[in-house]
Amino acid sequence: MTQTERPAHFTLTEDEIKAKFPERLRGYDLFRAMGSPKHIVAPMVDQSELAWRMLSRRYGADLCYTPMFHAKMFSDAKSSKYRDEQWQTNETDKPVIVQFCANEPDALLAAARLVVGEADAVDLNLGCPQHIAKRGHYGSFLMEDWDLVSKLIRKLHENLEIPVTAKIRVYPELEKTIAYAKMVEAAGAQIICVHGRLREQKGHKTGLADWDKIKAVKEAVSVPVFANGNILYHEDIQKCIDATGVDGVMSAETNLYNPALFSGKVLPTWQMAEEYIEICKQVPTKNSFVRGHLFKLFRYSLPIHTDLRQQLAQARTPEEVEQFVGAMKKRLMEDEEKEGKFEPGSVVADEFGYKKYPHWICQPALRFEHDKEHSQSKRLLNEAKASPAKPEESKKTAREDVEEADSNAKRQKVAAA
Ligand SMILES: Cc1cc2nc3c(=O)[nH]c(=O)nc-3n(C[C@H](O)[C@H](O)[C@H](O)COP(=O)(O)O)c2cc1C
Repeated sequence: MTQTERPAHFTLTEDEIKAKFPERLRGYDLFRAMGSPKHIVAPMVDQSELAWRMLSRRYGADLCYTPMFHAKMFSDAKSSKYRDEQWQTNETDKPVIVQFCANEPDALLAAARLVVGEADAVDLNLGCPQHIAKRGHYGSFLMEDWDLVSKLIRKLHENLEIPVTAKIRVYPELEKTIAYAKMVEAAGAQIICVHGRLREQKGHKTGLADWDKIKAVKEAVSVPVFANGNILYHEDIQKCIDATGVDGVMSAETNLYNPALFSGKVLPTWQMAEEYIEICKQVPTKNSFVRGHLFKLFRYSLPIHTDLRQQLAQARTPEEVEQFVGAMKKRLMEDEEKEGKFEPGSVVADEFGYKKYPHWICQPALRFEHDKEHSQSKRLLNEAKASPAKPEESKKTAREDVEEADSNAKRQKVAAA
């Protein structure tokens, strides 16, 4: 399909679509109606659930995506079990974009219809690089099938009462990335989120996102664009906006390790954990999601307090989880007492642009060895592009690798999603 041809599956013209859905918001009208969100929580399987979205919103998240839901399972007429387990929302959960993966336009539309009235938009996942997405032929494995991508988006654009958006990855070739984004826009996507990594950049090959490609997409399309990738610290958000010109910045992994990222506050992990489990009392949350969050929040403390790791792994009830958080808080406060009060302003970036915080402070997960070998120069390059100022220098050596004790496999699984 070329840019100029009008594909056969475009059954309605834009004017006809406007007449069919006169109230439905488009592009920047949608963006503004959602409050012009600058800080965006990414879709994260098993992790961007309602309770986490509520916590993130307390700390500056302007817009949240749900985890990716499987359209066919979500719209299963025989059982609502999957949907009930995965999709929760409430009046505070606004604005929210519900994300689906799909490869059948009718199944996608059927699933999307079930969230009309609750979601601000429905997003199509075109970025998942996991093996399961390859087997199921969805996510980034649709990058070879532009015709199907166009059909999926168009189906919603022509038939759904709320807008459709898309989250894409980039290709090695800039021109192809731009053409792809334009095709996604032409099909009807009203916002495009660009994760600036290739499909192959997952697990230990995650590396850095390419902000240049995000910038090029932003310049090439007329709908709002969100950037995704390389956000470790609060100041990276503005650097990313300056470097790419995007409308909003999305974070996944760093949001999980530091849910206060968007607020710029530097807070203790136990405080975030306490607030999160309080929220979970209001909105019952699957135990596996809760433990997943706590393992990440306490990532740098669990290798030190190894006995508590066991306690968390075995926590099966909200009470047991709460006991764990209480025990961890006590240890962390003792650690702080021993090591002395920490002053956020005293932390400067090391020669790789990374900051070393005490283990009880929320901070991003860093893939030190990998980043040092492959990516740190790119991180600094991105920083240099965003701001002509020299990065702060410090004689501090890189963090002792306590984090290596924290299972690599788990980290890679997370990063690859
Ligand atoms: C735990 C986890 C689950 C994820 N699940 C999804 C998902 O459901 N849908 C999606 O589009 N991307 C998913 N991703 C990818 C993120 O949305 C994001 O594109 C990627 O992690 C890069 O952003 P980051 O550099 O801020 O981590 C997931 C990432 C993580 C860490």
